[in-house]
Amino acid sequence: MIRRNRILRTSPAIRAMVAETILKPGDFIAPLFIEEGENVQEEISSMPGYFRRSLDLTVKETKELWALGIKSVLLFVKCPDNLKDNKGTEAVNPEGLMQRAIRAIKQAIPEMVVMTDVALDPYSTYGHDGIVEGSDIVNDATVEVLARMSLSHAQAGADFVAPSDMMDGRILAIRNILEANNFTKVGIMAYSAKYASCFYGPFRDALDSAPGFGDKKTYQMDYANTREALKETLMDIEEGADIVMVKPAMAYLDIIHLIKQNVHVPVSAYHVSGEYAMIKAAAKMGWLNEEKAIVESLTSIKRAGADLIATYFAKDMAKLLQ
Ligand code: PBG
Repeated sequence: MIRRNRILRTSPAIRAMVAETILKPGDFIAPLFIEEGENVQEEISSMPGYFRRSLDLTVKETKELWALGIKSVLLFVKCPDNLKDNKGTEAVNPEGLMQRAIRAIKQAIPEMVVMTDVALDPYSTYGHDGIVEGSDIVNDATVEVLARMSLSHAQAGADFVAPSDMMDGRILAIRNILEANNFTKVGIMAYSAKYASCFYGPFRDALDSAPGFGDKKTYQMDYANTREALKETLMDIEEGADIVMVKPAMAYLDIIHLIKQNVHVPVSAYHVSGEYAMIKAAAKMGWLNEEKAIVESLTSIKRAGADLIATYFAKDMAKLLQ
């Protein structure tokens, strides 16, 4: 034999020497679920080990994440039912929970990169990402609210707004409103290739934001398709996106790879709630080694081409890397 491939796998040191994909804490964006109250920490039933917290405990958690080397948090808020409507009124409230959360986190840890979810679903009586008329999720009126929502996050101090709604033209509208108001340092992380996925189920439990009727298939993408992922992503970049995202991650590694080959901006991937829940459930049953499943999953997502990974395992992974 001339070539023995096993030579490069002989020992842990040799394997480490030739490993192509190395995870680091800075690769991860930690999603945070925030609710009203004080000293509240509630475990999400379909996401064991993951919590929804009041703002005080969220700030404490964020400090721990920063100490572990995590550079970015992605904020989601649970809106009380009595503040939900079909117009996104609470989404643009300068004193809303999201806006207070941004200010509190930036004040406590100014260097932490604060990203915010921009979509109407947690604020919507219908649980949809946009304004509902009949059975339609209306595009242009929604985009107008999303732009104002983004502006209010920027005014509160957000570093990046992350529109997750999949309406057409929202990136341009957001870029325009930020420019018009002189927020020239606020970035846009666009959920560009976001699929209509069953893997968001546990997240909707966390925020009580499941659609009240129908599904999200008229705005989120069909998982049968590849080309529109590239079309959406290239358009978002033209409209001013700084970072693009593929979501979910594990079942969409081909999409992550395709986009990585075709763009010149950082690519992020969202390892979503259902992907978290699957690992947790199998580990709880004793069917998978949790730690190994986490490391292998996140390494695979990075290997596919993700520069950044939003994941509920961010803290666990950062601890493992210590
Ligand atoms: C809201 C939003 C969702 C997620 C992120 N932003 C849910 C949805 O689109 O229904 C899912 C995140 C996850 O499942 O972890 N627009």
